[in-house]
Amino acid sequence: MSRPRVFVTRTIPEVALELLQASCDVDVWEDMLPPPYETLIARSRGCDGVLTMLTDRIDAHFMDAVGSLKVISQMAVGYDNIDIAAANERRIPVGNTPGVLTEATADLTMALLLAAARRLAEGAAYVRNGEWITWHPTVLLGADVSGATLAIIGFGRIGKAVARRARAFDMRIVAYSRSLTAEDAAAHNVERAESLTDALRAGDFVSLHVPLTAETRRLIDADALRTMKRTAILINTTRGGTVDQAALVSALRDGIIAGAALDVTDPEPLPADDPILALPNALVVPHIGSATIATRRKMALMAVDNLIAGVRGEPLPNRVS
Ligand code: DGY
Repeated sequence: MSRPRVFVTRTIPEVALELLQASCDVDVWEDMLPPPYETLIARSRGCDGVLTMLTDRIDAHFMDAVGSLKVISQMAVGYDNIDIAAANERRIPVGNTPGVLTEATADLTMALLLAAARRLAEGAAYVRNGEWITWHPTVLLGADVSGATLAIIGFGRIGKAVARRARAFDMRIVAYSRSLTAEDAAAHNVERAESLTDALRAGDFVSLHVPLTAETRRLIDADALRTMKRTAILINTTRGGTVDQAALVSALRDGIIAGAALDVTDPEPLPADDPILALPNALVVPHIGSATIATRRKMALMAVDNLIAGVRGEPLPNRVS
């Protein structure tokens, strides 16, 4: 009997690749950059399954052009790059990797919050540039974290994990999510904001944890930024598209808010000459929320489990559609 054929759109941790190779004929895209769209189609053609990344555009045209797919397995919790409705129409199950990256992403969120509050990137550059000539009472003053209010927008797994960490830093936590009930908020020891506006008004720090959907695209626009405190810091570890980045640049430049710390941007990758990178009150890192050795290993193994189940026609352990 012939083995299922699968295309893996980037190099994945060895342990996961070996597991996949034990039961499938595997073609791996080994370049640093993602396969161009037409190449993605050509290499996937005739395959039973694809293991995709958030950088791959998986739309209806791709699914039809490939023709043979029994499963799409995304190595990420987010799947805004995949047309889920099109996959549903074609009865192609889509898998993702929830849960295993929660703690790593929450850690990075806290790291960004602390780094922005205490101006770590500016401080490191100050030392490297030879500007550290003395201790001074008014140099590089930042914001207090202890006692400050953290507004968490989107209270799913990662939002809750951030709340747990923030509590240990003695922060007051206000959460907003359309589905958050008073009981749920009480169970997680957070205050429930009635509206996005209330949450934005309350936060000394505002951290975004909503998935990118049609409703959340540019959720944080110029109006939302004006609603925030002038001293507030925005943290984004979800998707860059949830923020109107041009509005954010203006807000940071004009003192509408005090700072931003971003793991995700719009677009990605961010060109080195993007105006946000010229702002001292913006800290940007390259979408590394889940980038720990153990987490990426778990994500890859989970994506492989979904892929193998899909090519065998079995239910996916983690199916989004
Ligand atoms: C995800 O999983 O959606 C992250 O953005 C990448 O780890």
